[in-house]
Amino acid sequence: MASTYTGSVERKLATILFADLVGSTELGASMDPEHARDLLDRFYDAMAAEIALGGGTVEKFIGDAVVAVFGAPAAQEDHAERALQVALWMQERLHELLGGRLSLRIGVNSGEVAVGRPREGSSFATGDAVNVAARLEQAAEPGHTLVGERTAALVGDAFELGVPRTIEAKGKPGGVACRELGRMRAARRPRGGHGLETTFVGRRRELGWLEDVAARTRADGRPRLARLIGEAGVGKTSLVREFRARLPAEAAFRLGRCLSYGRSVTYSALADVLREEVGLGPDDPAEDILERLAGREILALTLGLDVGGDLEPRTAMLRLQDEWVRLISRLGSEGLGVLVIEDLHWAAGPLVEVLERVLSDAEGPVLVLGTTRPDGAPFPEADTLRLEPLGDEEVAGLIAGALGSPLDSCALDVVIRHAEGNPFFAEEVLADLLDRGLLERRHGVWCLGDTAVDVGVPDSVRGVLAARIDLLPAEAKEALQAASVIGRSFTPRGLAAITGSSAEVRTLVERGFVRPAQPRVVFKHALTRDVAYAGLARASRAHLHAAFARWLEGDDAKDRRAGTLAYHYSEAVAPDIAELAWRDMNAELAQLSEAALHWLRRAAELSLAHFDLDDALAHLHRAADLAPDDADVWHAIGRVNALKFDGEAMWPAMERALQLTEGRAALAELYAELTFESTMRGGMWKRPLDHGLVESWLARALELADAGGAAHARALVARSLWEDDAEAAEQAVALSEPLGDPVLQSYAYWARSGAAFIAFDFHEADRWAQRRFDLLDRLTDPDKVAHIHYYGATAALAAGRPEDAVTLVHDHDVVASRLSPHHEVHALGVILYVQEALGRWDEVRRLQRRVERAVAANQGTPCVLNARTLFSCAVACGELGLDAESHRLEDAAVAQGFHEGGMGFWLDPPPAHLALLRGDLPRVAALLESSGATWHLSTDGSLYALATKLEALVALGRTSEAEEAAAALLQPGTYLEPFALRTLGVVRSDRALTERAVERFDTMGLAWHAGETRALRVART
Ligand SMILES: Nc1ncnc2c1ncn2[C@@H]1O[C@H](COP(=O)(O)OP(=O)(O)OP(=O)(O)O)[C@@H](O)[C@H]1O
Ligand SMILES: [Mg+2]
Repeated sequence: MASTYTGSVERKLATILFADLVGSTELGASMDPEHARDLLDRFYDAMAAEIALGGGTVEKFIGDAVVAVFGAPAAQEDHAERALQVALWMQERLHELLGGRLSLRIGVNSGEVAVGRPREGSSFATGDAVNVAARLEQAAEPGHTLVGERTAALVGDAFELGVPRTIEAKGKPGGVACRELGRMRAARRPRGGHGLETTFVGRRRELGWLEDVAARTRADGRPRLARLIGEAGVGKTSLVREFRARLPAEAAFRLGRCLSYGRSVTYSALADVLREEVGLGPDDPAEDILERLAGREILALTLGLDVGGDLEPRTAMLRLQDEWVRLISRLGSEGLGVLVIEDLHWAAGPLVEVLERVLSDAEGPVLVLGTTRPDGAPFPEADTLRLEPLGDEEVAGLIAGALGSPLDSCALDVVIRHAEGNPFFAEEVLADLLDRGLLERRHGVWCLGDTAVDVGVPDSVRGVLAARIDLLPAEAKEALQAASVIGRSFTPRGLAAITGSSAEVRTLVERGFVRPAQPRVVFKHALTRDVAYAGLARASRAHLHAAFARWLEGDDAKDRRAGTLAYHYSEAVAPDIAELAWRDMNAELAQLSEAALHWLRRAAELSLAHFDLDDALAHLHRAADLAPDDADVWHAIGRVNALKFDGEAMWPAMERALQLTEGRAALAELYAELTFESTMRGGMWKRPLDHGLVESWLARALELADAGGAAHARALVARSLWEDDAEAAEQAVALSEPLGDPVLQSYAYWARSGAAFIAFDFHEADRWAQRRFDLLDRLTDPDKVAHIHYYGATAALAAGRPEDAVTLVHDHDVVASRLSPHHEVHALGVILYVQEALGRWDEVRRLQRRVERAVAANQGTPCVLNARTLFSCAVACGELGLDAESHRLEDAAVAQGFHEGGMGFWLDPPPAHLALLRGDLPRVAALLESSGATWHLSTDGSLYALATKLEALVALGRTSEAEEAAAALLQPGTYLEPFALRTLGVVRSDRALTERAVERFDTMGLAWHAGETRALRVART
């Protein structure tokens, strides 16, 4: 295992067995030391023999305890089953040996271990899993075996296990979950299971092929060998099962399995066939067997019975073969017989010999069908069919069948992507997601709770893949592991740069691990890459990452490689491994860390330039892990979170930057930015901001900033927003213009516009909002460009220019919706504000699907528009008479969880509208009561809110309040003017005013409102 570049330590998923002889001290005390020695020696030998039979490795004998490892040093896919089988054998064997005078306590547990060089007297496998196995052994009753949870999950139904329980264990505060071992049911965990349904999919061509071979066998009238070759889990066994189901009832069918380990495994496949042939159970005593086989007792050799007697072994074997030729000939004596030998890759020589005899000497049409993995395949001359991976559609069909109800496209994608056509992997990944509670059922559809979830490699799949990797020659395996550090795909040059050679790529291609995709080489299966990588010791990984990063940087240190360089450098110095990996190499570590920081920052900048905010944050957080005291990194994290509208994340990052920053000017900048972003992006706070806190930031910013500087202007913008301070907005405008910073200027104008808006001076608000468009050609950040359009649209609408507003929201959509999921919700939000204000309910309804998708995608951001947009859709459905849908959407909006804490001015107007529609006046009154006084404050939504408020007051008969509210809004040419006119018309019963409202609605093109108002007039006359 020792190697130049992958190191001498590997990581394995293995199963550890601890066994301890109970009562030996007492026995020893009563015994002559020589006898005691002899007894212990016999014990050791017997236990070692059982462990070897199960393919385990004795790790050590300590006193009268034995420790064995399965799945290490060489991986085994069935390490857990082997360990439990060996535990049962050990218990039996001890009983045979000592007749119950002493008993064994056994603990078995699976987990990740580090496997090092075996040293005299010390263990070669270490890890928590080993300690837990020891604890389980200590807690077991004499004569019993306790099995850890992970082992239990790995073996599934192959063993009977007691009910889950928890034992106390030192160093394990929650105890250790375990189960008592019972009988063995099968040597290997049956595939599938997990309580999932199996629906057979695809494979029509393959079934056709099998039927064709069967027909040819029938036609020839003599035995024929056919072979199905395919990777583990690709579906060989399933295909055979399906083939069997389609055979005519009269065809004789026998099936036997070759086993990977165990007692009398030589003929195990034929043993299955024989038992079925003569009706024997697995545990029938020898006498019964011999009685059943009367006249052809030699067949009992197949079952491991010593019936050769005085016969010379070779003669016994030939007789056995003769008997099998007769037996199989009988199978084909009445038409087609099918003999399936599963898992030929584990077939032992003597079995192969029997099969060869059968094929040459048996009579009648018998199809001998073998299944095998590509690694070991006797019988090269057979008819052979290779089973290829399933198509994505077929995997989707399998998943749908397994779950019984649909999986949403995102989760489906994840499973398909990981399975890559292997149905076993698909089932295991799916079951793993279910077991870990990562799949949730929403409205009858399975969805991923968190779309960014780390799917990982299920233990069962890891076992299969690791075992396959360990079958590679050592050099090829090391090359595969090194390549896994580079990634899913690599160039031979890159591999050679870190290993010194790319010669092994050929072996890897031949063995089907990778395939050439000029100029690169690609791991055929992403999971193989993951498992190869997981097998490397972390310190070795660090060195390989470092070597690769250096080579890549030397080769081509371009920005387009920034992400890759950042990744490899930062993996090389990941804080939790750096010390171990670079012990006594401080200069090296420092240099690598510096490179990591440099490229992480650069990669973040580049991601930000594409507005890939999550990617930028990922890089920055890695940078912060490496340099937790770097104020610039924290500042950048704060800024990106602000762009993401994630207030809860922005705030602590900025606080951290503040703690680490010195110097008045720098602090002033930070405080101004913090206050500005917090107040400007009101939508980023799930709960309202803490007033005291914001005020203290504002005060600090104003106190520290140089008068007349940018920080000062920015703080003034924040003040005007926060305190509705029109004067601060004016000052900000005055300061920003000479500074020539278009961003600052744009926000100062916006503050000015906002102040006018809140004072209901809509034309003034519009003028300032439109002035911002003159700055566009000096702005590059799309977030800033989008902002101008967003508020430009609302201001245009307020000023009575609805068609301009419609154009602007669509322009905004083009800029914003590609920026981030959150910007997309904004894009929809402002479209809906405008369309709902225009009463264009069909338009709103048309957007409903997009809204629901966008909101689902934006769950990571606590934006109030997540709820608000759903409410708009609920209102549109209500207006269109789709009551059930309206209620569903309203519930969905409420479920977004924004209702605690002062968000009423955003969120209460639509429910009030719905309550009006539904004639629920008490609810209307309650909503007005709770937040009505603040409905004008959400500038963008306030037009619709104020119109709704007028309606509500009229409906509630609160005429004087309605009069007062309407009077404040009677401004010529504005959007709200006709609503005010109509309100006054109704409360004063003045038809002329209502007429004027209709006319104004018509002039502005608000057809729906005009219609409503006309209907009102008709109803009242
Ligand atoms: N065509 C299919 N349709 C639906 N499910 C399938 C199909 N093929 C395989 N599966 C599922 O995938 C899992 C693995 O299949 P199977 O046991 O047949 O693979 P295998 O090739 O025999 O693997 P191994 O080499 O490990 O024996 C099973 O649980 C099975 O239900
Ligand atoms: Mg199989």
